[in-house]
Amino acid sequence: MRSLNERTITDEVLGRFSGAPDARLRQVMESLIRHLHEFAREVGLTPREWAKAIEFLTELGHITDDKRQEFILLSDTLGLSALVDLIANRDKVKGATESSLLGPFYREGAPEIPTGANVARDVEGEPLDIEGRVVSTAGEPIAGVLIDVWQAAPSGLYDVQFEDSTMNLRARFRSDSEGRFAFKSVKPASYPVPYDGPVGRMLNALGRHPYRPAHIHFKLSADGYRPLTTALYIEGDKYLDSDAVFGSRASLVVGYRKATNGGRAKPDSIWFEFALEPEKSKAAKGQKPIPRSSSVRGK
Ligand code: BEZ
Ligand code: FE
Repeated sequence: MRSLNERTITDEVLGRFSGAPDARLRQVMESLIRHLHEFAREVGLTPREWAKAIEFLTELGHITDDKRQEFILLSDTLGLSALVDLIANRDKVKGATESSLLGPFYREGAPEIPTGANVARDVEGEPLDIEGRVVSTAGEPIAGVLIDVWQAAPSGLYDVQFEDSTMNLRARFRSDSEGRFAFKSVKPASYPVPYDGPVGRMLNALGRHPYRPAHIHFKLSADGYRPLTTALYIEGDKYLDSDAVFGSRASLVVGYRKATNGGRAKPDSIWFEFALEPEKSKAAKGQKPIPRSSSVRGK
């Protein structure tokens, strides 16, 4: 019988995956094990620390239900959700609008509204006009794009959090024949991600704050174009460079524009042009070959 030591155990574990019929699963698990084992060796992980980590993961499970997903929050606050999104968009053409996290507060079936309607009902806050255009990466306007928007109230809470079941601060509408859209709302505010659970304790232990910069979420889809999930972030927000979930991007920052009408102040506005990338054909997308790595030394 072979005996195992701190280094040979990794190859022994990897060897047990060699018969996995699903090549992608084998690739993912092999890499995960190589990195996990290397991490444990690098930090000299102690049994007490590992027991603490398992306790933490168990708590994530206990607090997670159909309304709260602490595992996603962990992935978000560790930057893994943002990284997976960046990888999924690594082949995007230049000029296409950057994506940003969907987040946990998106809801299907927001009410359809006509151009210029207000998405905020009985919400106190400073009025805001949101306008823009949807174009292709070649600069051509795209008509009929389905645009889904959702945002938190100035209190920093989404409708589901202030127990409003009427789909407040959410809407769906389509771009017009020139790709334009317009709606009214209230100015969003920065808000903390839920921090009263294990992830909040982790942030605190790491000396991190739980805030996201003020933003409005957008989801755009149109036939023949790659769907886009993104958000617009408000210029000057103090959390732009330290977003707790690593979602903010410089290219998605918009400033409030002031306007007057016959000498009277109009609500501030923001304007943004979204550029969608034409959908690649299935053949053009291709599939990368899966490299076969069997040894931690083969890195
Ligand atoms: C959000 O922007 O709604 C969000 C994203 C990730 C975690 C929590 C909230
Ligand atoms: Fe959000």
